[in-house]
Amino acid sequence: MTGEPFVEVHRLSRTFALPALRPPGGGRPVPRHLQAVDDVSFSLARGQALGLVGESGCGKTTLAHILARLADPTAGGLVFDGRDLAAVPAARFARDPARRRIQMVFQDATEALNPRDTVLEAIAGPIRLLVPGLRGREVAERAAATAARVNLPPELMTRFPHQLSGGQRARVGIARAIGVEPELLILDEPTSALDVSIQAVVLKLLDRLRRESALTYVFVSHDLNVVRMLCDRVMVMYLGRLIEEGPVEAVFRNPRHPYTAALIDAIPRLGARGAARERLAGEPRSPVNPSPTVCRLVGRCAHEQARCRAAMPPLGPEGAGHRHACFFPLGRDEEPC
Ligand SMILES: Nc1ncnc2c1ncn2[C@@H]1O[C@H](COP(=O)(O)OP(=O)(O)O)[C@@H](O)[C@H]1O
Ligand SMILES: [Mg+2]
Repeated sequence: MTGEPFVEVHRLSRTFALPALRPPGGGRPVPRHLQAVDDVSFSLARGQALGLVGESGCGKTTLAHILARLADPTAGGLVFDGRDLAAVPAARFARDPARRRIQMVFQDATEALNPRDTVLEAIAGPIRLLVPGLRGREVAERAAATAARVNLPPELMTRFPHQLSGGQRARVGIARAIGVEPELLILDEPTSALDVSIQAVVLKLLDRLRRESALTYVFVSHDLNVVRMLCDRVMVMYLGRLIEEGPVEAVFRNPRHPYTAALIDAIPRLGARGAARERLAGEPRSPVNPSPTVCRLVGRCAHEQARCRAAMPPLGPEGAGHRHACFFPLGRDEEPC
C-alpha cells in the first residue's frame, strides 16, 4: 500500500447517556452510559471494499453514521483524504464540500424515501443540493442517467415509492447516493430487507458500480457470505469493540478470535472448519457501563482464562495485515499480509 490511507479512523468512540439508576436502598444515583462504539481504529485504502460484521446491536450502524458524518463521535479522530473530519460537527457537515464525496445507502430504502417524491425527484434531490452550477435540465438529465446506471427503466421515473417493488426502492436508494459521484460509499445492510433472489441481483449491481467508478465501500452486513463475496477486507465487531480485522480470505480461513470463529461456524454451508466448531455459551454482557478491564466475550468464551477477566485485550499486532483482540487466539500465525 502506498501513500496516505484514504480513510483513517483513530480511537473512535460513541456513548449514549442513559438516565441515572437509583439504587433500590437509596443513595446517590449511578450515572449510566451505553457504549455503542468503543475505541475503534482502522484505515482504508482508496478503492477497497471493507465489510463490517457483527451481531445486531454491536454498533455497526452507529459507526457507519459516524463515518458518513451523519452523527458525531464522543471521542476519536476521522481523517478523510488527509482532512480531519471529526472536527466538523455532523450538523455543519451537511453544508461541507466533502458531503458530496461521502454518501450513505440506508438499511431501509422505504424509510429513507419521501413518499411524495417521484423516482426522478428522489434521485435529483441530492444532485440539486450537492452538485453546484447545474441547471434544472442538467439535474434531470443526470438523475435519468443515474437511474439507468442502476437499471431502473425510464417508465418508473414518474412513479412514487409505494408503487415500486422492494428491489426497485433499493435501486432508488443506491441511485440517490451515487448520483453525486461520491468517492466513499457507506452501505448499511443495503439488501437485508429484500428477498434472497433480489438480494443477489442488487449485490451484483453494487459490485459492478464499485468497479466501474473506483468507489471505496464500507459495507455493513450481518451476513458473512455477502461480505466474503463483495469485500477485500473485513472487520468484526462485538459489543462496540473491533475484535478482528484483516483480508477477507485470511479471516475466513484462519479466524483468530473465538467470536469470529463462532460467527463463521454458524454459517450453514461454510461452517465446516474441521471438527473444532466454536460455540458461544450464555448471553452477551451488557453494553451499559462496560468494564474497561474485562474482555467483552467473558462469560461466553470457551477459551477464557483469568487474564481475560483482568484486562481488555488490545487489537494487534500493531502494523499487521490481520489483527485480532484476544490473549489466547485460535489457529496459527500466518505469513504477513
Ligand atoms: N440513539 C440511541 N440512544 C441510545 N442507545 C442507542 C442509540 N442508538 C443506538 N443505541 C444502542 O447502541 C448499540 C449499537 O446500536 P447499533 O449501532 O444500531 O447496532 P447494529 O447496527 O450493529 O445493530 C445498541 O445497544 C443500541 O441499542
Ligand atoms: Mg444496524
